[in-house]
Amino acid sequence: METFCSKLPKIELHAHLNGSLSRETLKKFGCADNDILEYNQAKQTTLDQVFDIFKIAHQATSTKQNLYESTVKVIEEFASDNVIYLELRTTPRKEADMTEDEYVETVIKALLDSESSDIMVKLILSIDRRHTYDQQVETLKTIIKYKKLYPDVVRGIDLSGDPTKGAFFRDIFEKARRNELFVAMHCAEIKNDAEVMEMFDFKPDRLGHATFIHPDFQGSAELWELYTKLQIPTDDKGVFDTTLSNEFRIVQQTFSLNKEELWKISKNTLSYSFATDRDKNVLNEKLDKWKLANIKILKHPYYICL
Ligand code: IMP
Ligand code: ZN
Repeated sequence: METFCSKLPKIELHAHLNGSLSRETLKKFGCADNDILEYNQAKQTTLDQVFDIFKIAHQATSTKQNLYESTVKVIEEFASDNVIYLELRTTPRKEADMTEDEYVETVIKALLDSESSDIMVKLILSIDRRHTYDQQVETLKTIIKYKKLYPDVVRGIDLSGDPTKGAFFRDIFEKARRNELFVAMHCAEIKNDAEVMEMFDFKPDRLGHATFIHPDFQGSAELWELYTKLQIPTDDKGVFDTTLSNEFRIVQQTFSLNKEELWKISKNTLSYSFATDRDKNVLNEKLDKWKLANIKILKHPYYICL
């Protein structure tokens, strides 16, 4: 199953750029060994500490050249894990040597330069919930500007950041929606029923995490029913020291899924993506062709060669 999960063409819809850096990339851009270790072992870290860890990656990507190369590398790593469609997300930020606009332009250039017949890559730009309302409005202006310049690349907006801090400002996301951006939102990473209700009322196109909506975590079965089309992402493959294949493997083992069910997850995940219909058709065809070429493996549980 490990080989199968690795070879299966996969769709990644939730990957934060600065959470997805590999050890090699951090090392290359001057991070100290103990910082790399801290970044890489965040699985053992509590929620209130984990958000500080991203500062390590932010140091590594603080120049245009490093940001460009890091983005190219992240895309290469997903492609070599047989991810055929990647929605990479990142929060526009300015640095001593880079404006917010230059940050976004650099990431877009890296995306365009990295696309190949193996992987299609789109961008979601994030708003950090810890920022003030005025800061969020400014970031939204940048996001809309680049959505207009690169409508085929910038597909959506995301609300992320430490869920114990900051806020969801509905009017910001309404404006984003009016500007044809799909909306993804980190939701219910902690128990916060009032905010969950506000988000549900807004109806984001996709939710991330949604942990505390589940009845097992004091959530409500009715709310859970509304968003039960699940997808498997890595979130922060560098921070959690994982790959999408590995996450598929964990889900497969936990729920005893067979190979065809795993393929179906890839297929369903594509339908929740922010890709254009034309791009979805191309990718659907790719998935169907792969299934046909591997039909024996899919139908026979013990057929392991690929
Ligand atoms: P960046 O947006 O490319 O800088 O990626 C790192 C950022 O993504 C962090 O600073 C957070 O704002 C956000 N992020 C990454 N993982 C999570 C998560 O699990 N929950 C909420 N926000 C996250
Ligand atoms: Zn996330």
